[in-house]
Amino acid sequence: MSADKRAELAGGPTGLPRHIAVIMDGNGRWAKMRGMPRTAGHSAGADSFRRAARYCQKLGVEYLTVYAFSTENWKRPREEVEGIMALLEKYLRQALRDMDKEQIRICIFGDLTPFSPKLRQMCAACMEKSAGYTGGQVNICLNYGGRDEIVRAAKRWAAAGCPELTEDVFGGYMWGGHIPDPDLLIRPGGEKRISNFLLWELAYTEMYFSDVLWPDFDEKEFDKAIAAFRERNRRFGDVQ
Ligand code: FPP
Repeated sequence: MSADKRAELAGGPTGLPRHIAVIMDGNGRWAKMRGMPRTAGHSAGADSFRRAARYCQKLGVEYLTVYAFSTENWKRPREEVEGIMALLEKYLRQALRDMDKEQIRICIFGDLTPFSPKLRQMCAACMEKSAGYTGGQVNICLNYGGRDEIVRAAKRWAAAGCPELTEDVFGGYMWGGHIPDPDLLIRPGGEKRISNFLLWELAYTEMYFSDVLWPDFDEKEFDKAIAAFRERNRRFGDVQ
């Protein structure tokens, strides 16, 4: 990426979001429109995720957090859930193979207890192997719920002996610890809601909603989202 392109998107070195969060919505509709099974939509969604991770790295976005499977997604038909699990396994296998080259740190946010031992082992291996990488961080939310995250944080805080409580201290008990909150949330797929995603972390995040379905949300769409972000006047509760 040329310095000009970066500057054009970022509006200067501080205009680029450090952290982008994405609700990867619209996979099912993308498949339906093509007369394909929903799992084919998730497969296209997984490709879109890989492309997004590479593009964010190229732009210099430090953190990308994606909602891959919510605490509510277990309600979906068994074959769809199994299809998503298979895609996750495929992604983690490829990541383990290629991660030295890409240098992207992978973190998993969510309670992995209900997942298969194989998937859990692969998640642990990816996190361990990539822990020292410096080419940006991708957080994959699996069996993740925003309310669940807050309740777990409260339990961890209590288990630590209730240290003096500030927002910063409490935030440190979230899955991401002390990483910066998302600057920009992107929700493709036409819906305009948060769906129990990052409830604590989105307090001052700029929201970008798009009708484009996630499998079609390519680099150009990211550019549009970032350009819209640059137009926002972030006041964090202050006046300006
Ligand atoms: C929401 O679209 C998408 C999901 C619940 C699953 C997302 C999973 C992936 C993209 C694949 C695995 C991820 C990785 C990180 C490899 P939807 O099915 O609700 O779409 P719809 O609203 O059109 O039905």
